[in-house]
Amino acid sequence: MASIYTTGATYQAYRASLLHFSDDPAFQKNAYSWHEDGLLVVSEGRVHVAGDYAALIDFLPAGTPVADYRGKLIMPGFIDTHVHYPQTDMIASPAPGLLPWLDKYTFPTERKFADPEHAANVARFFLDELVRCGTTTAMVYCTVHPQSVDAFFNESEKRNLRMVAGKVMMDRNCPDFLQDTAESGARESEELIKKWHKRGRQLYALTPRFAPTSTEAQLELTGALAKAYPDTFLQTHVAENLDEVAWVKSLFPQARSYMDVYDRFGMLRPRSMYAHCIWLDDNDRARMAETRSAISICPTSNLFLGSGLFDFEKADAQNVPLSLATDVGGGTSFSMLQTMNEAYKVARMGGTYLQALRMFYLATLGGARSMELEGTIGNFVQGAEADFIVLDPHATPLLQRRTERTDSLEELLFALALLGDDRTVLATFSAGQQVHQRLD
Ligand code: GUN
Ligand code: ZN
Repeated sequence: MASIYTTGATYQAYRASLLHFSDDPAFQKNAYSWHEDGLLVVSEGRVHVAGDYAALIDFLPAGTPVADYRGKLIMPGFIDTHVHYPQTDMIASPAPGLLPWLDKYTFPTERKFADPEHAANVARFFLDELVRCGTTTAMVYCTVHPQSVDAFFNESEKRNLRMVAGKVMMDRNCPDFLQDTAESGARESEELIKKWHKRGRQLYALTPRFAPTSTEAQLELTGALAKAYPDTFLQTHVAENLDEVAWVKSLFPQARSYMDVYDRFGMLRPRSMYAHCIWLDDNDRARMAETRSAISICPTSNLFLGSGLFDFEKADAQNVPLSLATDVGGGTSFSMLQTMNEAYKVARMGGTYLQALRMFYLATLGGARSMELEGTIGNFVQGAEADFIVLDPHATPLLQRRTERTDSLEELLFALALLGDDRTVLATFSAGQQVHQRLD
């Protein structure tokens, strides 16, 4: 057999149990690869090969370092498809629902990001927290201030993380100190695209906050930018809360539905990410599937703000691309494991059942697919960027006790999802470089 290794290249290898996905286990039988005693080989920041230790070890070039993580689980880094970095400092702020929470906490907190030093300080903490929780890619809202985007991407670039982020656009129904105009929002967004989109691992997302805070003129220009820069991302909120839905109906009486507002402005397209999607109808979901627009499910936020329960069954029946997200600061945890825990319960409340395997799919390859980044991140195919995490099934006394009594991979993953959190993440690697090590 010809060697799969190139003379002169450098490799690093990691021995552990390996899990990654090639498809959605809810719909495909052989959707995942599991190697109980596995080996992940990385070269130049990319995955070279992943498989059984016994099958690979004899061919590994002499002298290749092998990190020994036996007893641990290596999988692709988590992908959080909706999170607000400026809201880090206001996580767990009490309010009776979305709209009062925005007025009382969110807008005053976001005001502080006019100061680039404050923005850099929060971005540093935020990114440290993400990697501590095993998240290696996120779709991130900055604030209305372009300097908040510069601060975020500067910090992300320093860590060589694959991040997607954008400047919030709001030209009405918000405090003056956070308001742009249709023209300035589009101009600043375009400048930021030119500066940051595809610079290293950074990617830009057009970010109108949500329909109530944009005029038709702003949404029109957003749609035009989405068309002019088709490989950028687009992110916004939709159908999160019933008061918000009623507000949108009064602001856009001619639209068929809340989602239809975005559709009319050409905002449904591949690489568009819609957070929440609780109060959609079948027409909305059909349009999302047709246009390959994705849903970002935010269970901790939806429970915290009392927004509603995401309907997995309806979304699956119409084949809408799904992903999972924390939505911090509306969300109550940076941990995608804790997010799975709450997603599981939300599904149960809706009469559906979420397999653990599927939850890990949604938090890895599901996110990558929703962002049209399959092959780049989200699994261990050859050439994918080597973003991976090492999970410790013995991270806490309770996890240890429970995982020592599991009888299948499904049971092991279920225990990790329900009982795991930041402590479960022993190490995080981004493009083959370690960016987090848990301190015991
Ligand atoms: N809708 C508009 N803005 C926001 C926000 O910051 N968080 C959440 N959860 N929903 C929103
Ligand atoms: Zn949000």
